[in-house]
Amino acid sequence: ATYKLLLLAGDGIGPEVMGEVKRLIGWLDAQGIARFETEEGLVGGASYDADKVSITDATMAKALAADAVLFGAVGGPKWDPVPYEVRPEAGLLRLRKDLALYANLRPAICYPALAESSSLKPEVVEGLDIMIVRELTGGVYFGEPKTITDLGNGQKRAVDTQVYDTYEIERIARVAFDLARKRRNKLTSMEKRNVMKSGVLWHEVVTQVHQREYKDVALEHQLADSGGMQLVRWPKQFDVIVTDNLFGDMLSDIAAMLTGSLGMLPSASLGDIDPTTKKRRALYEPVHGSAPDIAGQGAANPIAMLASFGMALRYSFDMGELADKLDAAIAAVLAKGLRTADLKSEGLTVVSTSQMGEAVVKELQAL
Ligand code: NAI
Ligand code: MG
Repeated sequence: ATYKLLLLAGDGIGPEVMGEVKRLIGWLDAQGIARFETEEGLVGGASYDADKVSITDATMAKALAADAVLFGAVGGPKWDPVPYEVRPEAGLLRLRKDLALYANLRPAICYPALAESSSLKPEVVEGLDIMIVRELTGGVYFGEPKTITDLGNGQKRAVDTQVYDTYEIERIARVAFDLARKRRNKLTSMEKRNVMKSGVLWHEVVTQVHQREYKDVALEHQLADSGGMQLVRWPKQFDVIVTDNLFGDMLSDIAAMLTGSLGMLPSASLGDIDPTTKKRRALYEPVHGSAPDIAGQGAANPIAMLASFGMALRYSFDMGELADKLDAAIAAVLAKGLRTADLKSEGLTVVSTSQMGEAVVKELQAL
């Protein structure tokens, strides 16, 4: 089968790192290993420059029809003055909303060669491979009421509301349990049921889903604050962590720093199974932004983008073995001492974006 992949490179270093994914896709095709039907589209500032919107309806329709969307990054100072509704980020927000991507997957993997550059002791992070599943479309970032009221006595009152319905917790729990089954079969759910009603319901619903459908997976509950402490103290105790939008935002950023540079971090956002394509709606993107400070210099690290494609292989295309090989190729290139400028360290070879991409393909070839 050929899979339909929509490539939205975006702005800044987006096209540079996407170029390395295109190189890899071309090589996989030429070798007869895997074939993708790729289409490209504009998003963010690039789309604004061409069409005065941050994503066109036509591109949105292609995203809905694709088996997966690969997204680079959007934004940059050039578009600071554009109207709020069509700012570059609006393109990404529309994709997330229209594809209903409610599950954000952020792996924290520490390649052995980079253990020394973590903010933690090497033995704490070496070989680390955990996955944080963050609920992305509900909770306190979206709940109503959401207001600032003038109380009239020189005081104002700000209100944000955390709202979660059973179905929202059930579907994110299922994504997390399914992932755990494909990994080390362990799920840790984090909330604050000691002080929040939404935490009480979260705990109750995750427990029910476990009892009904996933008894074979080991489930553990932690309060999100002490969970955060454990994440930094001994992260290897975790396999998959599932948590709400707010806690997940913070915990995934903390986990990111366990493993080094922004240029190394991939992500996936998943939605429901599409009734026509029978595939789970999905968008894959590096965690980093468009890095205007280094754009156009060929200095960007393409690994986050390549690893995001690796997540697509694993979660959208059922090519887990190929994804494993890609991870091994990345690890091997790093072990040989190749580093893009963001990872620069004493005595190692600094390479460009395309040299890093080439080296990964060459390693794959050798595997
Ligand atoms: P950023 O992630 O673009 O850059 C932060 C720092 O990390 C910069 O020094 C940059 O050079 C470096 N960096 C990032 N990715 C790198 C890579 N692959 N290789 C080497 N170095 C890398 O975040 P920043 O500077 O806050 O935002 C820049 C622009 O990107 C803004 O317009 C922002 O709105 C946008 N942005 C877009 C995101 C997206 O498209 N999902 C996410 C975050 C920011
Ligand atoms: Mg964040």
